[in-house]
Amino acid sequence: SSSPKVALLGASGGIGQPLGLLLKQDKLIANLALYDVVNTPGVAADLSHIDTNAKVSAYTGSGELHAAVEGADVVVIPAGVPRKPGMTRDDLFNTNAGIVRDLVAVIAKASPKALIAIITNPVNSTVPIASEVLKKAGVYDKRRVFGVTTLDVVRAQAFVAELKGLDASKTTVPVIGGHAGITIIPLLSQVKPATKFTDDEIKKLTPRIQDAGTEVVNAKAGAGSATLSMALAGARFTNALLRGLKGENNVQCSYVASDAVKGVEYFSTPVELGPNGVEKILGVGKVSAYEQQLIDAAVSELNKNVQKGVAFVK
Ligand code: APR
Repeated sequence: SSSPKVALLGASGGIGQPLGLLLKQDKLIANLALYDVVNTPGVAADLSHIDTNAKVSAYTGSGELHAAVEGADVVVIPAGVPRKPGMTRDDLFNTNAGIVRDLVAVIAKASPKALIAIITNPVNSTVPIASEVLKKAGVYDKRRVFGVTTLDVVRAQAFVAELKGLDASKTTVPVIGGHAGITIIPLLSQVKPATKFTDDEIKKLTPRIQDAGTEVVNAKAGAGSATLSMALAGARFTNALLRGLKGENNVQCSYVASDAVKGVEYFSTPVELGPNGVEKILGVGKVSAYEQQLIDAAVSELNKNVQKGVAFVK
């Protein structure tokens, strides 16, 4: 619409609050609806005092969810529990799968045309869960459901810039695959500006990017997982979706229904965003032999994650 509405589900959480702060500063947003099971009036009152134009409203509890998402152009979902040390993202499945299923069931009714950006982990499974719920409701459009993997890109860009002494804000690194462990595949052969890495650098940087979330989980020592960097990544991705809606095509890596790689239904690659969400899947491009090995290794793991999500809804 000409006055875009963004609904943020899980708005009171560790990610939700700083993400709401960043979205309140996005000039493309006219209405920002904050939904959570707790604390949204306080967060909304606080954000509403910021002198930007986005109008902030609060919705609390499942009875207000329909109104929160009604007419939304974009729904961003960081609702759910985060990791503690020793946990993988998949360990969150039992709690978060049901949360995503129930939220998306209401989106299917109240805002079936919304672009849905899912942050709730395990993203490799929660995106298929959302898709299955939308299919059941008869409103599925594979171009409109996204797993937010932008933090993997943000991290890869930060780490590469740091290692090579580049300007981080001008460094781009595609990261493809999924959003957990070995499914995260940084394409160091496609870094811009063109950058040469030694084998040793590649073999150190790759696992660091893959395990960067765990670095934060361990440093937070039980207090949760990445919130501030995830909020930044979520805001950057939401802004890209909104620019796409306006017809300003732009490219982002995102975990979507894709035929970019054989044998797996969902895969993150660079995608072109436009008025309908995914306009074009740009694919993996030219990869090194090492990167091809990483892709091959990721496929079976990703398939397990996808099947687990699909089975949960069925
Ligand atoms: N509906 C709406 N909000 C919910 C629901 C629900 N059914 N269940 C939980 N929430 C809210 C919580 O009330 C809380 O405000 O989600 C928020 C989650 O915040 P945190 O516990 O601080 O977790 P956070 O660090 O923000 O991570 C959230 O994002 O990156 C992922 O792995 C992470 O899955 C986790 C999610």
